[in-house]
Amino acid sequence: MIYLKTDEEIELVRAANMIVARTLGEVAKYIEPGVTTLKLNQVAEDFIRSQGAIPGFLGYAGYPYTLCVSVNENVVHAFPSNYALREGDIVSVDCGAVINGFNGDSCYTFPVGEVSDDVMRLLKTTKESLYVGISKAVAGNRIGDIGHAIQEYCEKRGFSVVRELCGHGIGRDMHEDPDVPNYGRRGTGPLIKNGMCIAIEPMINLGSKNIVMESDGWTCRTKDRKPSAHYEHTVAIKDGKADILSSFQFVEEVLGDKSI
Ligand code: MF3
Ligand code: CO
Repeated sequence: MIYLKTDEEIELVRAANMIVARTLGEVAKYIEPGVTTLKLNQVAEDFIRSQGAIPGFLGYAGYPYTLCVSVNENVVHAFPSNYALREGDIVSVDCGAVINGFNGDSCYTFPVGEVSDDVMRLLKTTKESLYVGISKAVAGNRIGDIGHAIQEYCEKRGFSVVRELCGHGIGRDMHEDPDVPNYGRRGTGPLIKNGMCIAIEPMINLGSKNIVMESDGWTCRTKDRKPSAHYEHTVAIKDGKADILSSFQFVEEVLGDKSI
């Protein structure tokens, strides 16, 4: 069941996403060689609570942390840990927050210091593909148009699209209908309508598309252990077009000319 949101509800989803956006900006200040991924989690949890919001992931389906912090071959849903970031790593920081009963959900993949050219190209392509997907999130299109555009964009550049994980509707629940795959056929899937709120989140691999689940029951990593990137925005369909409710503005103010 797809819940269409009123303009007032869309503003509540935006408010939650602005907290997520500011949280990612806080986390960005700490990303450098030597910082542990648990420290990033602590920064995020403290900031979210300081805003009167609640971490959206903590306790969701039993997930035990505020952030998913997925380094290199980890695709998504990796636990923060005592691992200290190293020069040349990439780290995806996925964050959710709830305020006034509505969810925000957004993710940014950061380079740690200098990364190799092919990994930088993976980051850029994945981020660009998010905006390519968003450009298809217009009333009258179908959900499959989004995934088709993301897949075509990434595969043309030699990268592969994870199949097992999707974007999703978002609102009072973090995961609502519809699923928003990052692959697919044009003209298929649910019709996109005004009032829809969806999280679009391409997960793109440098090597093959195959992933495996680690024994912790959460961490998804590439089978070939090559790196994977992940960017996510929450968008609403308003006046026929996509209105991006999350933001990378605060991250990019911190990264400056190191922005992806
Ligand atoms: N952005 C991720 C997703 O949409 C975050 C969920 S992690 C969870 O699946 F632990 F909360 F499930
Ligand atoms: Co999501």
